[in-house]
Amino acid sequence: MKKWMQFLLLVASVSSAGALLASGGGEEGDSRQLPPVANAKWKAECSSCHMLYHPGLLPEKSWQKLMAGLDRHFGENAALDAPTRDEISRFLTANSADKLDNRRSRRIVQSIPADAAPLRISETAYFTAKHDEISATTFKRKSVGSASNCAACHQGAERGDFSENKVRIPR
Ligand code: HEC
Ligand code: HEC
Repeated sequence: MKKWMQFLLLVASVSSAGALLASGGGEEGDSRQLPPVANAKWKAECSSCHMLYHPGLLPEKSWQKLMAGLDRHFGENAALDAPTRDEISRFLTANSADKLDNRRSRRIVQSIPADAAPLRISETAYFTAKHDEISATTFKRKSVGSASNCAACHQGAERGDFSENKVRIPR
């Protein structure tokens, strides 16, 4: 190969790698994954019965409704003392899907009708659209349990990472 051709190829590959990095993998220029968030009480109290759901998966109105009804939480009593409940509520609200600036959260919010406040991420139109190829029997597998158990298939679910290369449906 001629020297000048090598140079052109080098320029081409460097600039396309740069474009990939600058886009962060997102279509609109920001990250597709949810940003890292942390709160010790949330982590301790909201992961004893199921995986930890990232606050960026539901809008503020959903978290407020959910936190106001912890004594009848999906058939369980998940009630907390008032200071703990209020701290977790503030944390969920501050990092809710309508507060975080990322494409995934925006899409979730857009998929929820204005007059609805779903308590389940797994019942949003966004979720249904993304999982339309997965059958009900797959979600019911012993190794999965239900559609609510995101972490069974998404290795990065608790970190808010639902990227396609970290999905594996267990047998
Ligand atoms: C005593 C057990 C228990 C505790 C503690 C608990 N949950 Fe749950 N949660 C459940 C059950 C049971 C379900 C329904 C799971 C299913 O249908 O597979 C559920 C479902 C959910 C869902 C809906 C998931 C989906 O999209 O389908 C969210 C969101 C949720 N919990 C948030 C929380 C938060 C936030 C906390 C902490 C304040 C919490 N949970 C603490 C038992 C608990
Ligand atoms: C039975 C396994 C399974 C469960 C449980 C599951 N998912 Fe998925 N999810 C998938 C598969 C498979 C895809 C499609 C990946 C693909 O084709 O790109 C997907 C896609 C997604 C996507 C879109 C990824 C993208 O960038 O297009 C999101 C977001 C997502 N899931 C979130 C969730 C959440 C939140 C939960 C729990 C409430 C959940 N999933 C539960 C298997 C699962």
